[in-house]
Amino acid sequence: MDILVRTDASAVATTAADILARYARAHATIGVATGSTPLATYRELIRRHQAGELSFAGCRMFALDEYVGLDYSHPESYHAVIHRELTDQLDIDPANVHVPDAAADNLQQACRDYEAAIEDAGGIDIQLLGIGGNGHIGFNEPGSSFDSLTRLKTLHPATVRDNARFFDSPDDVPVHVLTQGLGTIRRAGHLLLLATGQAKADAIAAALEGPLSASVPASLVQLHRRATIVVDEAAASGLKNVEYYRFVDENRPEWQQ
Ligand code: GLP
Repeated sequence: MDILVRTDASAVATTAADILARYARAHATIGVATGSTPLATYRELIRRHQAGELSFAGCRMFALDEYVGLDYSHPESYHAVIHRELTDQLDIDPANVHVPDAAADNLQQACRDYEAAIEDAGGIDIQLLGIGGNGHIGFNEPGSSFDSLTRLKTLHPATVRDNARFFDSPDDVPVHVLTQGLGTIRRAGHLLLLATGQAKADAIAAALEGPLSASVPASLVQLHRRATIVVDEAAASGLKNVEYYRFVDENRPEWQQ
């Protein structure tokens, strides 16, 4: 794991955008995430695109997850969020932006089709991830198998409460979702996990320094040969080994810069 500690959320976004820009230049397949954390990174990518510095025309994107039971036109469907917050403001071909089809009549088939679409694209080169307060990634709640593929999941009540802020009432938050599995996420060539704010400190400490455990789905990053974790000071505040992570970052060999 490469753990990068930055002063604040804006510095986290700059570092994440630098990493993603390298993949955009290589016409990569990029896995994108929802939630509030990546929004600053998306704004920075859009800024670079609008400044003429960065093109996504050669890229494909796959979202992590989607709510079951929300029409695509609902502003909080992840289909709508990914288009509004990111892809509609870039030069990527909309046909190359994929979100699990949670409106399908046959959800199991939709999950299989999503896995097949990722495979047809040659796999995901870099997968951007946020982290839930309970350590979930995508919508893989505690107890998710490290081998799981895209499937239907039931949200944890804590996730429903967390996500209620996006809806008029907590009763409006769907409890079922389709999400890439931990096995799907694990196959990506590079994992880029972002976390900002004190509310994520315990989840980050458990994921990076706790045991590898299905109870903390984000601990999957410990199993991956190429995982970059970018956190601000607040999200890093529960890490025991932070002095070492900073030392590694400050003494990066030239070939790695
Ligand atoms: C949702 C998403 C996750 C995201 C999490 C944290 O549950 N499915 O992908 O990481 O929220 O969101 P936030 O970044 O808003 O804290």
